[in-house]
Amino acid sequence: MAKQFPEGFLWGGATAANQFEGGWNEGGKGWSVSDAARSHLDVDVQDYAKQNEVLEKDVLEAMAHPEDLVHYPKRHGSDFYHHWKEDIGLLAEMGFKVFRMSIAWSRIFPKGDEETPNEEGLQFYDNVFTELKKHNIEPLVTISHYEPPLHLVLEYNCWYNRKTIDFFMNFTRTIVDRYKDRVKYWLTFNEVDSMIRHPYTTGGLLRDRFDDDKWEEVIFQSMHHQFVASALATKYIHESDPEAKVGCMLTKLTYYPFTCKPEDVLEAQQRMRSTYCYSDTQVFGEYPAYLLARFRNHGLNLVMTEEDLEVMKKYPVDFISFSYYSSSCVAKNTEGLQTTAGNTVTAIKNPYLTASEWGWQTDPIGLRVSLVDLYDRYRKPLFIVENGIGLDENLDENHEIKDPFRVEYTRDHLIQVNEAIKDGVDVMGYLYWGPIDVVSAGTGEMRKRYGFVYVDRFNDGHGTLERVKKNSYDRYKEIIESNGEILLK
Ligand code: BG6
Repeated sequence: MAKQFPEGFLWGGATAANQFEGGWNEGGKGWSVSDAARSHLDVDVQDYAKQNEVLEKDVLEAMAHPEDLVHYPKRHGSDFYHHWKEDIGLLAEMGFKVFRMSIAWSRIFPKGDEETPNEEGLQFYDNVFTELKKHNIEPLVTISHYEPPLHLVLEYNCWYNRKTIDFFMNFTRTIVDRYKDRVKYWLTFNEVDSMIRHPYTTGGLLRDRFDDDKWEEVIFQSMHHQFVASALATKYIHESDPEAKVGCMLTKLTYYPFTCKPEDVLEAQQRMRSTYCYSDTQVFGEYPAYLLARFRNHGLNLVMTEEDLEVMKKYPVDFISFSYYSSSCVAKNTEGLQTTAGNTVTAIKNPYLTASEWGWQTDPIGLRVSLVDLYDRYRKPLFIVENGIGLDENLDENHEIKDPFRVEYTRDHLIQVNEAIKDGVDVMGYLYWGPIDVVSAGTGEMRKRYGFVYVDRFNDGHGTLERVKKNSYDRYKEIIESNGEILLK
């Protein structure tokens, strides 16, 4: 393999405050939707609808039990709030160029609708950014990663309400003004498309608040508000710092037809469009014809103003970022076919792939296919901001974790990134998901560990929070050090 990763390739890793930070009720932080998201270890991993439906009573129940960190694990995360110095040191030693993190909205605006921010919250991120700078690590900040303040949910129905655009912009202006000298890369919403799969964590939507409404319409109306907010944020960031770059963030779900039957090929094409419609909107600055057709065909009447459409058109994103973990198959007739789970989806099992304990199928070539498809479609720089493997791991008798499968997973995916670069795709960088163990977004488990660094914390809440480097830690360090060349050996 010839040397291909370009000079300045952005190597690193990604986290989100709601899964990593903890300190959920410290430093003046208010409740976020994730603090009230109960883990459902009793529900089948393939049953995403059941896992993700949240009712008002569920939130009230969560609020009645602030002491419960076991059923609400995102409250403790990996306790980055108290380990930030040590954790950034560990990332720096691996040679990270970029660290992706989110800013917990309710740490800055505890209820979301205040006029003035919580200074203590702002200072926490001051410390984090200063420490990153000390190690020459560039932050990539996700403005909103499943963290709307819970008060906005209960008081305003969160993203369904237009007012939330103003609350979000107040938050965005505050953090951009404060950190623009230290943050050059921004993502507006993590996986804006995920609203359709988990409306509560992404949009702050409680199912029973909309019993008399068309649920699909509620979701798309809320998503429309996020598209407008994203464009306004892009405008504000560019006006504040012309050097800054803003990206959209897409869940790159990759589907193959189960057979070459034209019906299956068509099914795969339709399914891929249902993935692309959101990035199409944010990259081209307007709703694609096929999404407008869906609104019409399903009788969805969205409230959109002329100004909304204008701002979306005028301020598209600079680059496309995405998460990629696995691929799966689809078929017109699914009778008798085995299904498997993926990232908040369930699809047909691919007989040529192996899967993790959670059913996610490992497919490095699918990453190359995804990069090529996205680049052909958008012709804008691509940034892989999540990729990785969650495994159940425990320290052995020597206080070590041997994780050859993670080493293999990372190597195989990076080789395919290199192949895509050789194919002419413009890839800005690669961020491994959860370089230090985090709580899983989907199942709320600590047991599903992604890290190159182990965090001693378990599903039942016990653990010392000690950080221990796994065997993969040195390997990723070597990959970064050699700018990917070691992958050849
Ligand atoms: C991505 C999310 O979709 O998948 C992350 O942006 C999440 O928040 C990641 O953690 C992996 O999913 P899970 O369910 O294994 O944590």
